[in-house]
Amino acid sequence: MSKALTYLAKTRPEAATHLLGFYKHSVQALDDKTRHLIQIVTKVTVGTERGLRQYAPKALKAGASREEILDAVLMAFPAAGLNKVLDAIDIMREMDLLPEPPDAAPATSDDKCLGALESFPLQRMHGLQRPEGNMIIFRTAQDAAIVYSARCPHSKANLCRGTDHGHSVECRVHNWTFDLTTGACLEPKGGAGLEVIPSVVRDGQLYLV
Ligand code: FES
Repeated sequence: MSKALTYLAKTRPEAATHLLGFYKHSVQALDDKTRHLIQIVTKVTVGTERGLRQYAPKALKAGASREEILDAVLMAFPAAGLNKVLDAIDIMREMDLLPEPPDAAPATSDDKCLGALESFPLQRMHGLQRPEGNMIIFRTAQDAAIVYSARCPHSKANLCRGTDHGHSVECRVHNWTFDLTTGACLEPKGGAGLEVIPSVVRDGQLYLV
């Protein structure tokens, strides 16, 4: 249940009870997979990023394939229009919920270069959009940097859009916070840390390995 619904259940219990009862009892004949695929169509149509992030992974968990999830996103097109569909595709790709396009060319060493090390700010986060996925680069010293996947380990939101606290980044979706010097989760305690992407500095350039 979202934080907002939890809040409503506490502050307006009479109203929230009916609302939650409706959610619980209104759908009787559809199986979970179909229900969650239809939820994707409605979330894309309404244009709610939070709703998509909350419900789309449930479709995969309920047995939907990535192709079926893409179909659901595209089915929203007549009502949602192109922009909402494209926004949803960006979010779904970030969350690894859509099929990869076929015949991606093998990466060359140029493809693996993230840029000159000195172009990244020292001891500050730097978000980077890459074909492999969004990344966060944290330059720890003049001659060293750590590269992280920008996918929030909680629910895969893009941490490049998170709040930059200098040595840490806070996810804007549910406020998990990560230490950028180590990748460890600071809040909540015991949460999963950031995925480190192997990299190397060569001739002043930062490369993926
Ligand atoms: S997606 Fe939930 S904290 Fe980031």
